[in-house]
Amino acid sequence: MVFNILTLFPDIFTGFFSESIIRRAVEAKIVHFNVINIRDYSQDKHKKVDDYPFGGGRGMLFAPDPVFRAIESISERGRVLYPSPKGALLKQPKVRDLARCRILTIICGHYEGIDNRIVENLVDEEVSIGDYILTGGELAAAVIVDSITRELDGSLGNEGSRLEESFDDSGLLEYEQYTRPAEYRGQSVPQVLLSGDHEEIRKWRIKRRLIKTLEKRPELLDEVTVPEDYKKILNEIIKRRGPNERNK
Ligand code: ADE
Repeated sequence: MVFNILTLFPDIFTGFFSESIIRRAVEAKIVHFNVINIRDYSQDKHKKVDDYPFGGGRGMLFAPDPVFRAIESISERGRVLYPSPKGALLKQPKVRDLARCRILTIICGHYEGIDNRIVENLVDEEVSIGDYILTGGELAAAVIVDSITRELDGSLGNEGSRLEESFDDSGLLEYEQYTRPAEYRGQSVPQVLLSGDHEEIRKWRIKRRLIKTLEKRPELLDEVTVPEDYKKILNEIIKRRGPNERNK
Protein backbone atom coordinates (compact mmCIF):
# COMPACT_ATOMS: atom_id res chain seq x y z
CA MET A 1 0.00 0.00 0.00
CA VAL A 2 1.28 3.46 -0.87
CA PHE A 3 0.79 6.39 1.49
CA ASN A 4 1.39 9.84 0.05
CA ILE A 5 1.71 12.26 2.95
CA LEU A 6 1.66 16.00 2.37
CA THR A 7 3.10 17.94 5.27
CA LEU A 8 5.11 20.97 6.27
CA PHE A 9 6.98 18.85 8.80
CA PRO A 10 8.33 15.71 7.10
CA ASP A 11 10.77 15.07 9.96
CA ILE A 12 7.88 14.27 12.29
CA PHE A 13 7.46 11.01 10.34
CA THR A 14 11.11 10.00 10.16
CA GLY A 15 11.31 8.29 13.54
CA PHE A 16 7.83 6.88 13.33
CA PHE A 17 8.48 5.13 10.00
CA SER A 18 11.82 3.73 11.07
CA GLU A 19 10.79 1.81 14.19
CA SER A 20 8.99 -1.36 15.13
CA ILE A 21 6.13 -2.76 13.07
CA ILE A 22 5.98 0.13 10.62
CA ARG A 23 9.68 -0.26 9.85
CA ARG A 24 9.24 -3.98 9.26
CA ALA A 25 6.26 -3.30 7.00
CA VAL A 26 8.40 -0.89 4.97
CA GLU A 27 11.24 -3.41 4.73
CA ALA A 28 8.79 -6.14 3.67
CA LYS A 29 7.38 -3.73 1.03
CA ILE A 30 3.92 -4.01 2.54
CA VAL A 31 3.80 -0.22 2.78
CA HIS A 32 5.63 2.54 0.99
CA PHE A 33 5.70 6.14 2.19
CA ASN A 34 6.02 9.08 -0.11
CA VAL A 35 6.40 12.13 2.15
CA ILE A 36 6.00 15.40 0.30
CA ASN A 37 7.02 18.73 1.78
CA ILE A 38 4.30 21.22 0.85
CA ARG A 39 6.79 24.06 1.18
CA ASP A 40 8.70 22.70 -1.83
CA TYR A 41 5.66 23.64 -3.93
CA SER A 42 5.42 27.26 -2.81
CA GLN A 43 5.97 29.74 -5.65
CA ASP A 44 6.67 32.50 -3.15
CA LYS A 45 10.25 33.73 -3.00
CA HIS A 46 10.28 33.21 0.77
CA LYS A 47 8.60 29.81 0.39
CA LYS A 48 5.56 31.07 2.28
CA VAL A 49 2.63 28.64 2.41
CA ASP A 50 0.12 30.45 4.63
CA ASP A 51 -1.84 33.67 4.67
CA TYR A 52 -4.35 35.71 6.68
CA PRO A 53 -8.00 34.64 6.60
CA PHE A 54 -10.37 36.85 4.57
CA GLY A 55 -12.89 38.49 6.86
CA GLY A 56 -10.40 38.54 9.73
CA GLY A 57 -9.88 36.06 12.49
CA ARG A 58 -7.21 34.31 14.44
CA GLY A 59 -4.09 32.81 12.92
CA MET A 60 -3.02 31.91 9.42
CA LEU A 61 -4.43 29.48 6.88
CA PHE A 62 -2.76 27.17 4.41
CA ALA A 63 -3.01 28.95 1.06
CA PRO A 64 -4.45 26.79 -1.73
CA ASP A 65 -1.70 27.03 -4.34
CA PRO A 66 1.18 25.11 -2.63
CA VAL A 67 -1.22 22.31 -1.62
CA PHE A 68 -2.79 22.09 -5.11
CA ARG A 69 0.67 21.98 -6.68
CA ALA A 70 1.95 19.42 -4.16
CA ILE A 71 -0.98 17.10 -4.77
CA GLU A 72 -0.78 17.55 -8.54
CA SER A 73 2.83 16.33 -8.37
CA ILE A 74 1.59 12.88 -7.29
CA SER A 75 1.06 10.45 -10.15
CA GLU A 76 -1.68 8.45 -8.38
CA ARG A 77 -3.52 9.89 -5.36
CA GLY A 78 -5.94 7.11 -4.51
CA ARG A 79 -8.34 8.22 -1.79
CA VAL A 80 -7.47 11.64 -0.33
CA LEU A 81 -7.92 12.11 3.42
CA TYR A 82 -7.76 15.29 5.43
CA PRO A 83 -7.33 14.68 9.18
CA SER A 84 -9.53 17.21 10.93
CA PRO A 85 -11.63 17.39 14.09
CA LYS A 86 -14.59 18.07 11.76
CA GLY A 87 -14.33 14.63 10.18
CA ALA A 88 -16.12 11.42 11.06
CA LEU A 89 -14.55 9.72 14.05
CA LEU A 90 -12.07 7.02 13.02
CA LYS A 91 -13.26 3.60 14.16
CA GLN A 92 -12.04 0.11 13.38
CA PRO A 93 -14.55 -0.59 10.54
CA LYS A 94 -13.34 2.57 8.77
CA VAL A 95 -9.72 1.51 9.34
CA ARG A 96 -10.50 -1.83 7.69
CA ASP A 97 -12.25 -0.08 4.82
CA LEU A 98 -9.25 2.21 4.25
CA ALA A 99 -6.89 -0.77 4.46
CA ARG A 100 -8.47 -2.08 1.24
CA CYS A 101 -7.18 0.95 -0.71
CA ARG A 102 -4.07 0.52 -2.83
CA ILE A 103 -3.08 4.17 -2.49
CA LEU A 104 -3.99 6.75 0.15
CA THR A 105 -3.04 10.42 0.21
CA ILE A 106 -3.15 12.32 3.50
CA ILE A 107 -3.00 16.10 3.65
CA CYS A 108 -1.71 17.32 7.02
CA GLY A 109 -3.12 20.73 7.87
CA HIS A 110 -1.50 23.16 10.22
CA TYR A 111 -1.83 26.59 11.71
CA GLU A 112 -5.45 27.53 12.24
CA GLY A 113 -6.77 25.64 9.26
CA ILE A 114 -6.66 25.44 5.50
CA ASP A 115 -8.34 27.31 2.67
CA ASN A 116 -11.67 25.59 2.12
CA ARG A 117 -11.07 25.23 -1.62
CA ILE A 118 -8.49 22.58 -0.74
CA VAL A 119 -11.11 20.56 1.12
CA GLU A 120 -13.78 21.10 -1.55
CA ASN A 121 -11.61 20.22 -4.52
CA LEU A 122 -8.96 17.80 -3.36
CA VAL A 123 -10.27 15.94 -0.33
CA ASP A 124 -12.46 12.83 -0.48
CA GLU A 125 -12.91 12.45 3.25
CA GLU A 126 -12.23 14.33 6.49
CA VAL A 127 -11.23 12.02 9.33
CA SER A 128 -11.06 12.83 13.04
CA ILE A 129 -9.06 10.71 15.46
CA GLY A 130 -10.90 12.03 18.52
CA ASP A 131 -12.87 14.87 20.02
CA TYR A 132 -9.90 17.09 20.83
CA ILE A 133 -7.82 19.56 18.86
CA LEU A 134 -4.26 18.81 17.82
CA THR A 135 -1.80 21.46 16.65
CA GLY A 136 -1.63 19.81 13.25
CA GLY A 137 -2.63 16.80 11.19
CA GLU A 138 0.69 14.93 11.47
CA LEU A 139 -0.08 12.96 14.61
CA ALA A 140 -3.52 12.12 13.26
CA ALA A 141 -1.93 10.98 9.98
CA ALA A 142 0.46 8.78 11.96
CA VAL A 143 -2.49 7.24 13.82
CA ILE A 144 -4.31 6.59 10.55
CA VAL A 145 -1.19 5.04 8.96
CA ASP A 146 -0.47 2.91 12.03
CA SER A 147 -3.98 1.55 12.40
CA ILE A 148 -4.19 0.73 8.67
CA THR A 149 -0.74 -0.87 8.49
CA ARG A 150 -1.53 -3.39 11.19
CA GLU A 151 -4.56 -4.47 9.15
CA LEU A 152 -2.41 -5.33 6.13
CA ASP A 153 -1.51 -8.98 5.57
CA GLY A 154 1.94 -9.85 6.84
CA SER A 155 2.45 -6.67 8.87
CA LEU A 156 2.06 -8.37 12.25
CA GLY A 157 4.37 -11.31 12.73
CA ASN A 158 1.55 -13.31 14.21
CA GLU A 159 -1.74 -12.82 12.34
CA GLY A 160 -3.61 -14.18 15.35
CA SER A 161 -2.70 -11.17 17.41
CA ARG A 162 -4.74 -8.94 15.12
CA LEU A 163 -7.77 -11.22 15.17
CA GLU A 164 -8.01 -11.39 18.94
CA GLU A 165 -7.36 -7.80 19.91
CA SER A 166 -9.69 -5.09 21.13
CA PHE A 167 -12.22 -3.80 18.59
CA ASP A 168 -11.86 -6.91 16.46
CA ASP A 169 -14.92 -8.24 14.66
CA SER A 170 -16.77 -8.79 17.92
CA GLY A 171 -16.05 -5.18 18.92
CA LEU A 172 -15.21 -6.17 22.48
CA LEU A 173 -12.23 -4.97 24.50
CA GLU A 174 -9.37 -7.37 25.02
CA TYR A 175 -8.95 -9.69 27.99
CA GLU A 176 -6.08 -9.13 30.43
CA GLN A 177 -2.77 -10.80 29.59
CA TYR A 178 0.15 -11.90 31.73
CA THR A 179 3.65 -13.23 31.19
CA ARG A 180 6.28 -14.70 33.52
CA PRO A 181 6.80 -14.68 36.44
CA ALA A 182 3.56 -16.30 37.59
CA GLU A 183 3.90 -14.41 40.86
CA TYR A 184 5.26 -10.87 40.97
CA ARG A 185 5.45 -8.67 44.07
CA GLY A 186 2.84 -10.77 45.76
CA GLN A 187 0.42 -10.74 42.82
CA SER A 188 -0.45 -13.96 41.08
CA VAL A 189 -1.56 -14.60 37.54
CA PRO A 190 -5.17 -15.94 37.39
CA GLN A 191 -4.94 -19.66 38.13
CA VAL A 192 -6.92 -20.72 35.04
CA LEU A 193 -4.18 -19.38 32.74
CA LEU A 194 -1.68 -21.74 34.35
CA SER A 195 -4.03 -24.72 34.17
CA GLY A 196 -3.25 -25.80 30.59
CA ASP A 197 -7.00 -26.34 30.08
CA HIS A 198 -7.55 -24.60 26.74
CA GLU A 199 -11.33 -24.71 26.84
CA GLU A 200 -11.41 -23.17 30.33
CA ILE A 201 -8.92 -20.52 29.23
CA ARG A 202 -11.04 -19.68 26.17
CA LYS A 203 -14.15 -19.29 28.33
CA TRP A 204 -12.27 -17.18 30.89
CA ARG A 205 -11.03 -14.88 28.13
CA ILE A 206 -14.52 -14.42 26.66
CA LYS A 207 -15.84 -13.63 30.11
CA ARG A 208 -13.09 -11.12 30.83
CA ARG A 209 -13.67 -9.39 27.50
CA LEU A 210 -17.35 -9.06 28.24
CA ILE A 211 -16.78 -7.83 31.78
CA LYS A 212 -14.09 -5.34 30.69
CA THR A 213 -16.36 -3.97 27.96
CA LEU A 214 -19.34 -3.80 30.30
CA GLU A 215 -17.28 -1.93 32.91
CA LYS A 216 -15.26 0.41 30.72
CA ARG A 217 -17.12 0.94 27.42
CA PRO A 218 -20.70 -0.35 27.88
CA GLU A 219 -21.87 1.68 24.87
CA LEU A 220 -19.78 -0.61 22.63
CA LEU A 221 -22.13 -3.47 23.43
CA ASP A 222 -24.89 -1.60 21.63
CA GLU A 223 -22.71 -0.83 18.60
CA VAL A 224 -21.43 -4.33 17.91
CA THR A 225 -22.87 -7.72 17.18
CA VAL A 226 -21.92 -9.89 20.09
CA PRO A 227 -21.31 -13.46 18.82
CA GLU A 228 -23.93 -16.00 19.89
CA ASP A 229 -21.66 -17.95 22.25
CA TYR A 230 -20.66 -14.68 23.92
CA LYS A 231 -24.28 -13.56 24.30
CA LYS A 232 -25.19 -16.35 26.69
CA ILE A 233 -22.25 -15.55 28.93
CA LEU A 234 -23.04 -11.80 28.72
CA ASN A 235 -26.61 -12.35 29.82
CA GLU A 236 -25.44 -14.44 32.76
CA ILE A 237 -23.02 -11.67 33.80
CA ILE A 238 -25.74 -9.01 33.52
CA LYS A 239 -28.20 -11.19 35.45
CA ARG A 240 -25.67 -11.68 38.22
CA ARG A 241 -24.75 -8.00 38.40
CA GLY A 242 -28.21 -6.53 38.08
CA PRO A 243 -30.12 -4.88 35.22
CA ASN A 244 -28.47 -1.45 35.58
CA GLU A 245 -25.00 -2.76 34.83
CA ARG A 246 -25.12 -1.90 31.14
CA ASN A 247 -26.05 1.70 31.89
CA LYS A 248 -23.45 2.29 34.57
N1 ADE B 1 -6.24 17.86 13.47
C1 ADE B 1 -6.40 18.56 14.59
N2 ADE B 1 -7.11 17.89 15.49
C2 ADE B 1 -7.44 16.70 14.90
C3 ADE B 1 -8.18 15.56 15.30
N3 ADE B 1 -8.75 15.48 16.50
N4 ADE B 1 -8.31 14.54 14.45
C4 ADE B 1 -7.75 14.61 13.24
N5 ADE B 1 -7.04 15.65 12.79
C5 ADE B 1 -6.88 16.69 13.61
